[in-house]
Amino acid sequence: MSNTEDQGGSRRDFLYYATGAAGVVATGAAVWPLVNQMNPSADVKALASIFVDISGVETGTQLTVKWRGKPVFIRHRDQKDIDLARSVKLSELVDPLAENENIARDAPATDENRTLDKEGKWLVMIGVCTHLGCVPLGNAGDFGGWFCPCHGSHYDSAGRIRKGPAPRNLEIPVVKFEDEKTIKLG
Ligand code: FES
Repeated sequence: MSNTEDQGGSRRDFLYYATGAAGVVATGAAVWPLVNQMNPSADVKALASIFVDISGVETGTQLTVKWRGKPVFIRHRDQKDIDLARSVKLSELVDPLAENENIARDAPATDENRTLDKEGKWLVMIGVCTHLGCVPLGNAGDFGGWFCPCHGSHYDSAGRIRKGPAPRNLEIPVVKFEDEKTIKLG
């Protein structure tokens, strides 16, 4: 994954350089095909899955990985996080949908419908605020979950939007356990 991201970064840097200095555009045009060939094609990128070793993620902490250009939060929740999330009534939620790509689109946003395992120890979400795309901060906000400092959106310990301008719960990507130590994204 990191190679892909690094290459993506180089490509952006290159574009910036080429557009920022008109004098080098001719050279840029010659170099571009080579740089472009070094990147995976869009369809390969879109299909890319990654495996993440979660054995070192302690209870109560979060691992953030980059996948398909976005941060993915892998939260190993403690009992407090779980109890807090499971005590919330659906009627209290701003977005009533689970926003989980692994289940039916109209499934309700219960904590059980958002976690990776039945016990609710693992929560995996795209770490992008559903308002305008900032990356929310963990262990922050008024609901024991995440807080987006850009315009003040508060997410609970299941990543559900509870207060602020964000319209939807943090999205759950396609994810599953590969084995007890590994998850597969995509
Ligand atoms: S981008 Fe998160 S609150 Fe606006």
